[in-house]
Amino acid sequence: MKIAIVTGAAGGMGRAICARLIADGMHVVGLDIDAHGLAEMAQDGFEAATTDLMDAEAIKATFAQIATKHGGIDALVNNAGTCFMSEFPDIPADEFEQQMKLNFTGAFYCCQKAIKLMAGREGVRKIVNISSNGAYNFDVFDPPHYRASKAALDTLTKDLARRYAHEKIAVNSIAPAMTETPLFGVLSEEVLAKAIAQMPHGRAMQPAEIAAWVGFLISPAGDVSSGNVIILNQGRDVR
Ligand SMILES: NC(=O)c1ccc[n+]([C@@H]2O[C@H](COP(=O)([O-])OP(=O)(O)OC[C@H]3O[C@@H](n4cnc5c(N)ncnc54)[C@H](O)[C@@H]3O)[C@@H](O)[C@H]2O)c1
Repeated sequence: MKIAIVTGAAGGMGRAICARLIADGMHVVGLDIDAHGLAEMAQDGFEAATTDLMDAEAIKATFAQIATKHGGIDALVNNAGTCFMSEFPDIPADEFEQQMKLNFTGAFYCCQKAIKLMAGREGVRKIVNISSNGAYNFDVFDPPHYRASKAALDTLTKDLARRYAHEKIAVNSIAPAMTETPLFGVLSEEVLAKAIAQMPHGRAMQPAEIAAWVGFLISPAGDVSSGNVIILNQGRDVR
């Protein structure tokens, strides 16, 4: 059976991605700091690994456990992330550091560990990084440290795609716009209403719609795609 690791598994997008991959026949190891949320997800094909992804040592320990238990992995979805909303030029130093640490640094360390666990596995192995349309659309609300964390993630996507192409490890980013998850809670009602009104279909996207793309990239159909940043936004800002 193929093994996938999904970070931020207990969040809105994470739960949908885990459900998609389990339905597609994979065994999913879900990483999140929210042990209670992970416990709610108990089902066949799902394994919880409570991990603080801002802690490099914790990431190391979790991947070591996965290596011992499963021997290797076939896919990694770096989905954990948040959007801190302080305004430039008054973003506190610790908020900036946390933004980069969760959205970029944690994903970076997970990639380093995952690549090693993918060695010797059959077929094309997959890394999918959940970026954001906010890294590319400068007319929407996203603050600069959030944009920068996602742009860094997408540069990592491209580097690893080239670096590991001959090893048959495919690395892509999915960059969604407004998707209805608990993350909407960081926005004021006014900002949220305006952002949803800008979506061409008149509604936010649903986590399952994003998860379907993750599933597609991880399926054999995705074998030939690597190094791409796939923007999902209903055609809101075509550039
Ligand atoms: N919802 C959107 O509109 C939207 C748009 C673009 C991109 N994204 C991206 O999608 C991804 C998923 O976001 P979501 O909307 O599902 O948000 P969410 O808040 O529902 O989920 C985030 C998950 O990350 C976990 N997490 C937070 N800090 C952690 C830590 N230190 N260690 C481990 N886990 C931690 C949380 O517990 C939570 O389960 C994020 O990377 C986000 O930037 C979301």
